[in-house]
Amino acid sequence: MKLFKMTGFAAAGLLLAAAAAGAATPPALYTQAQATAGAAVYATSCAMCHGADLKGQAGPALLGQAFAAPGNKYTVGSVFTEIAQQMPVSAPGSLTHEQYADIMAYILSKNGYPAGTVALDYTAGMASTEPLVSQVK
Ligand code: HEC
Repeated sequence: MKLFKMTGFAAAGLLLAAAAAGAATPPALYTQAQATAGAAVYATSCAMCHGADLKGQAGPALLGQAFAAPGNKYTVGSVFTEIAQQMPVSAPGSLTHEQYADIMAYILSKNGYPAGTVALDYTAGMASTEPLVSQVK
């Protein structure tokens, strides 16, 4: 009987964990073509400060919990707006709208967001209130 109770408790815990994980499953916000193009722009315009692996150098990490932990309360819009209006630090706003959307797609892809069929739009993306929580540890 005691064993049964413990098993039931463990099962309830697993269900809760599963529900939490399900709630965190990120939506598809960009296309693979954007992420692929974004990787190239990132390499030439961002990697020198944020690292080729996105783990940070002169600039902070753009990957994992060092970047977008749940407690940071980042949104797709807040990060996208910072990138489009303040990056690269050396020349803010110097890239095209398409390049900024592509880089944002690349960063989302590296942080565990899946590609989909609808492209990330520059204007709508900056207004997005979708939480940005890295799926990478
Ligand atoms: C000359 C160095 C430099 C370059 C180039 C650069 N950044 Fe940054 N970036 C920084 C620094 C320093 C910070 C932190 C201070 C700040 O936010 O202004 C930062 C902050 C950020 C942040 C905010 C991170 C956070 O956790 O809030 C993002 C996102 C970002 N950069 C993305 C980019 C992208 C994308 C590019 C390429 C288009 C880029 N940066 C190019 C230096 C750079």
